[in-house]
Amino acid sequence: MNLLWLSPSPLPLLARNVRECSRRGELRPPARPGRPRICWPCCLRLSCTMSLRGAAASDELVFYVNGKKIVEKNADPERMLLSYLRKRLRLTGTKYGCGAGGCGSCTVMISTYEPALKKIRHYSANACLLPICSLYGAAVTTVEGVGNTKTRVHPVQERLAKCHGSQCGFCTPGMVMSIYTLLRNHPEPTSEQMIAALAGNLCRCTGYRPIVDACKTFCEESVCCQKKANGKCCLGQEDDLFDMEEKVSTRLFSTDEFQPLDPTQELIFPPKLMRMAENQPKRTLFFHGERMVWISPVSLDELLDLKAAHPKAPLVVGNTSLGPEMKFRGVFHPVVIAPARIPDLTVVKYTDDGLTLGAACSLALVKDTLTNVISELPEEKTKIFCALVQQLRTLGGEQLRNVASLGGNIMSRKSTSDLNPVLAASNCMLNVASRGRKRQIPLSDIFADGDNTIAPEEILVSVHIPHSRKGEYVSAFRQAPRRENSLSIINAGMRVLFEEDTDIIKELSIFFGGAASTTICAKQTCRTLTGRHWNEEILDEACRLILKDIALLGLASGEKADYKKTLMVSFFYRFFLEVLQLLKTTDPCLYPGIPMECMSVLQDFTTKMPQSIQIYQDIDASQSPQDPIGRPIMHQSGIKHATGEAVYVDDLPSVDGELFLGVVTSSRAHAKIVSIDTSEALKVPGVFDIITAQDVPATNEFYYSSDPEIVLARNKVICVGQIVCAVAADSDVHAKQAAAKVKIKYEGLEPVILTIEEAIKHNSFFEPKRKLEHGNVDQAFGAVDNIIEGEMHIGGQEHFYMETQSVLAVPRGEDKEMDLYVSTQHPATIQEMVAASLGVPANRIMCHVRRVGGAFGGKLLKAGLLASLTAVAANKTSRAVRLILSRGEDMLITGGRHPFIGKYKVGFMNDGRIRALDAKYYINGGCTPDESVVVAEVSLLKMDNAYKIPNLRCWAYACKTNLPSNTAFRGFGFPQSALVTETWITAVADKTGLSPEKVREINMYKEEEQTHFKQKLDPQNLIRCWNECLEKSAYYRRKTAVSEFNKQNYWKKKGIAIVPLKFPFGLGTRHLSQAAALVHIYTDGSVLLTHGGIEMGQGIHTKMIQVASRELKIPMSCIHFCETSTTTVPNACASVGSAGTDVNGMAVKDACQTLLKRLQPIINKNPKGTWNDWIKEAFEQSVSLSATGYFRGYNESMDWEKGEGHPFTYFIYGAACSEVEIDCLTGDHKNLRTDIVMDIGCSINPAVDIGQIEGAFVQGIGLYTMEELKYSPEGVLCTWGPNQYKIPAVCDIPEQFSVSLLSPSQNPHAIYASKGIGEAGLFLGCSVFFALRDAITSVRNERGLKKPFALNSPLTAEQIRASCADDFTEMVTNIESASCAALAMCVNGK
Ligand SMILES: Cc1cc2nc3c(=O)[nH]c(=O)nc-3n(C[C@H](O)[C@H](O)[C@H](O)COP(=O)(O)OP(=O)(O)OC[C@H]3O[C@@H](n4cnc5c(N)ncnc54)[C@H](O)[C@@H]3O)c2cc1C
Ligand code: FES
Ligand code: FES
Repeated sequence: MNLLWLSPSPLPLLARNVRECSRRGELRPPARPGRPRICWPCCLRLSCTMSLRGAAASDELVFYVNGKKIVEKNADPERMLLSYLRKRLRLTGTKYGCGAGGCGSCTVMISTYEPALKKIRHYSANACLLPICSLYGAAVTTVEGVGNTKTRVHPVQERLAKCHGSQCGFCTPGMVMSIYTLLRNHPEPTSEQMIAALAGNLCRCTGYRPIVDACKTFCEESVCCQKKANGKCCLGQEDDLFDMEEKVSTRLFSTDEFQPLDPTQELIFPPKLMRMAENQPKRTLFFHGERMVWISPVSLDELLDLKAAHPKAPLVVGNTSLGPEMKFRGVFHPVVIAPARIPDLTVVKYTDDGLTLGAACSLALVKDTLTNVISELPEEKTKIFCALVQQLRTLGGEQLRNVASLGGNIMSRKSTSDLNPVLAASNCMLNVASRGRKRQIPLSDIFADGDNTIAPEEILVSVHIPHSRKGEYVSAFRQAPRRENSLSIINAGMRVLFEEDTDIIKELSIFFGGAASTTICAKQTCRTLTGRHWNEEILDEACRLILKDIALLGLASGEKADYKKTLMVSFFYRFFLEVLQLLKTTDPCLYPGIPMECMSVLQDFTTKMPQSIQIYQDIDASQSPQDPIGRPIMHQSGIKHATGEAVYVDDLPSVDGELFLGVVTSSRAHAKIVSIDTSEALKVPGVFDIITAQDVPATNEFYYSSDPEIVLARNKVICVGQIVCAVAADSDVHAKQAAAKVKIKYEGLEPVILTIEEAIKHNSFFEPKRKLEHGNVDQAFGAVDNIIEGEMHIGGQEHFYMETQSVLAVPRGEDKEMDLYVSTQHPATIQEMVAASLGVPANRIMCHVRRVGGAFGGKLLKAGLLASLTAVAANKTSRAVRLILSRGEDMLITGGRHPFIGKYKVGFMNDGRIRALDAKYYINGGCTPDESVVVAEVSLLKMDNAYKIPNLRCWAYACKTNLPSNTAFRGFGFPQSALVTETWITAVADKTGLSPEKVREINMYKEEEQTHFKQKLDPQNLIRCWNECLEKSAYYRRKTAVSEFNKQNYWKKKGIAIVPLKFPFGLGTRHLSQAAALVHIYTDGSVLLTHGGIEMGQGIHTKMIQVASRELKIPMSCIHFCETSTTTVPNACASVGSAGTDVNGMAVKDACQTLLKRLQPIINKNPKGTWNDWIKEAFEQSVSLSATGYFRGYNESMDWEKGEGHPFTYFIYGAACSEVEIDCLTGDHKNLRTDIVMDIGCSINPAVDIGQIEGAFVQGIGLYTMEELKYSPEGVLCTWGPNQYKIPAVCDIPEQFSVSLLSPSQNPHAIYASKGIGEAGLFLGCSVFFALRDAITSVRNERGLKKPFALNSPLTAEQIRASCADDFTEMVTNIESASCAALAMCVNGK
């Protein structure tokens, strides 16, 4: 029912009512059943007497999902499509990764029909920010609607899986949907379209290369590398890559197997929706939720009346600004108005002087419209359009641009808006309206003067973007932590108009974003420079004026302040050069343009479709075709990942009476808990109970060392983010709402220690401290030519597994038994901790793990604590309880990689030989020990990387601080300590004047030698990897080319570096590497396999099935893996340290051999029989068809007293060469090329192993160059989601990426001569760090800047910019005294 039944023309009456009602009191909760109905504009006012019976009822929300009609009678405006799909429709293929529009895991396709144009529009969108109420009349396609294993797997799903584009599979449905949507619109997309379609999707496992490979198979341009092993390859280096003697392969998949893409097979747009759009007159819709009303008017007048009635009610279009505010900042609006169906707000109108775009136009539509106009109009008229398109290209991902509106971007007035500075600088006009009033406001007025603001009852109808004029130049700039899908640090819009045919400035506009709370204008600068000539004389003055303008506007200090200021003046400088160059085109004689060496500054880095090649050893010709070992077999769950059928913990159907847990975390870093007030929380509807430390029946504090690991804080908190209590409620929404209402009073405790430096000051460490000493260090220092000392800081890293920590605890109802479904790497720990917390024997607790959506070390002890909490809640409430951490909670609570400080003193000879090292390593362990001491130990044991250091002394300290407790992370201390090693290696190179690669070679292990803890190693394959990498990357040739490039370019520099790798494999002690397996053969011949390893993307189950297939000599298709469980394999060790395949493979092999031995007499009797014959016969002969397999573990040990031992079983070797290009003006960089050579023995599955190398490498790029965790001075994490914390996206992978597996290589210690490869590749990401360092060195050498210089990790754009010091950086730090001589030099080219 809606208002139209009231009268033919109800609006005037209602508007009057609105005015009356809006004068009376505050808004109240919505109508409840049984209450009198009320007039719609005042529908929230129960006090309103203008009761219009029936008018307040919610409309039915009609939309389609995967071809099925949905009629939702109680559509709640607060409900997002993601939770609706997952919880209401049980379509769990669409995943939750962040809830903030930043990761793309929740991507779906939305289709709408426009009756006027008779056009269907398909677009991708993030379901997590899409209110269901916005979907009226739309069709939603989820991954389930694209294809499935029951009917038909879609080519996108098939190719992603078969190209090995899924590892843990959690991001895969989102990837499928982005690619699928693109193909619906463009069945033969260009590579640019394809790469743009992936920009909004994050993957933490694969490193994107295989996903890109799958995408390429749909692109019209063909790709050569995957197809030709011996022909010319797209890297143009076939001679370097292929040694014709080697039997290698470059095919990881075969395109012959792929189904063709047939657009006629796709789900059609529902005809009923089409008819509904065509036949039903549009009418106002409104939807009531529990707390909120959504009103969707269809005419501008209605909208203006509504706005007059509810001036505070926001307009919602894409919900990408409003949604995050409501979700994460606690903002609440009882009424929202959705204007997207009003034609005036979606208008696209071409006029003689420009273009008018409706405020509700999506940014995608704006981009497409502008792009079309640019192609049709003369260049002179399109300068503003071009600048806008440039910003739109990298603004968010496609999912965001498809829904986010132009008006939303402008009106949110966010400082980070990339459009406002350009629109404001370009004199764009806002067409604004309120009831009875329309006006035009130049956007520049809003930001420049701030006095012409838009009133709350006014709305933005449309935006007029003028054509540019003759003599007018417009540019846009932005610098973000990541090139794509990342909010800017600083952006800018700049425009200059010259007096006719001169270079005299008639108008100048400069606007910046990112500097203050909203877009700002450099007003004084523009005023002062008007009337001046555009030449180098204004440059210095302009920069100083800009800095003064900014200081006046409030950017005097604060985070990144110097960088931001440097960017602003650097952007102006670039604008200055751009305009100079453009002036030259008008009159080359009058205007000289800019020198050649400055030209490259005008080119932006763009993302191109990466090219790649993977080379691995071919299997021996004598190997049976049925034997899968050594073949690039697809991930066992690949297809299920791609169809969304793979089940993760939160996909498990809800159990009857199930409760959800919402955690309440500490807001203080170190404090006494004075009181916990739960009274308000208990009033929230649906709240069942609140769980505190008092509810833990047995163990709340786990003592694995002297300090405990804590489930729930008792009496005091020791970090921000520690769990104090938890609310159990009937839904996740209620649990979270109630958790936010728990009030905790604290009394501050001293000291609050956050950093390593503070821990050192307070002598705050976890024991024991470790030391290794080898040779005679003091004596060696006495005999060296040179000594250098230094210090390096390495930031922490968030695991950012795509599936957040998840637990479902289900009490079985008898004998205190409980099932736990946990996303963990270690079910046995879950069992042990839960049993201890509940005070029951371990045999009552069954932990099940089918798969984990990424872990990287983060789902060990932390998962155990969360499982204990959930089990305690389930025990107390006698209900099933589910705990799914939000991304923000996960990042806040669970810790990550240890921040690290390495202090070193190195003694070396003039010829580059390093003779002595004295070092101290400090890691920030956080508030509880977890595995920090072991991480510190490993950092010591692996610190030598590939080098023989004859005299060495090194200490490692695990600092105890008040940060969330840090934990295991891929590489486990090695990525930090080895980075410090490579840093002093380059410092030695700087000092001796040798090249870094020379110093590396001089000091590399060369023959059978001993490590610093006296373990023997044979470095033959290290040298082979190094030499092969030098050769395959054509290192020396490219180094010369880099140097040549650098001579010719002043503002862009390239850098190249090659880094070796020795990664010791082992867990330090035997019992940690024991493993077991259980294999059943059923009478139909099928085999059920299980073992203690966890599938978290590394393909362990696939490899185990390969092992069983080889051993039992049956096809892989006969073997099934169901789940890892403590009921089938007890006491299994954690899946950590690259060891999963090694140890479980041995156990599986053992079990299979036992079975085969039992079957052998039967086979011998009937050698021509089939597998099924033998199994049948065995059963009839009462031969047991079930066997366990066991592996005792590797004989590893370390004596820390003596500082020697054999903690590792073997070594993995490798080398990587990377080349980068930096933009010295902004600090931005581009990864141009990486070549990796790895010795991983005989690969069991080259597709999986190469996937591990590439994925780890890209995670390493993240660690060393972009991922930055930030805490407030009070210890509060500021980077709590993908919008604040940037992991590598597809734009960050090298444009050319080659991985070669060293062949032939054997490893006698592991199964089938393979090597464990999960972690090693991460460190090779530092080749990018050192390539960046090389580029910076080139800048500094050219500018005569001081040597040596120190760099920390991550080497972000900010640090790169600061290291490329120039007059701009100088001017920023010392505005009064800086001279701009060098600027003039760059302009003049002298
Ligand atoms: C993951 C992510 C990445 C992003 N990256 C970028 C980026 O790189 N660069 C960038 O510039 N932005 C970025 N954004 C911000 C994004 O562009 C804006 O959120 C978006 O443009 C807002 O449009 P919307 O339709 O979603 O607004 P909504 O959230 O629907 O509304 C936002 C606000 O605008 C007001 N409003 C909307 N329309 C009107 C109107 N016609 N009249 C009056 N008021 C109105 C509403 O009242 C509301 O307060 C990003 C956002 C996300 C979530
Ligand atoms: S879950 Fe929607 S974008 Fe991350
Ligand atoms: S496969 Fe992409 S996140 Fe795991």
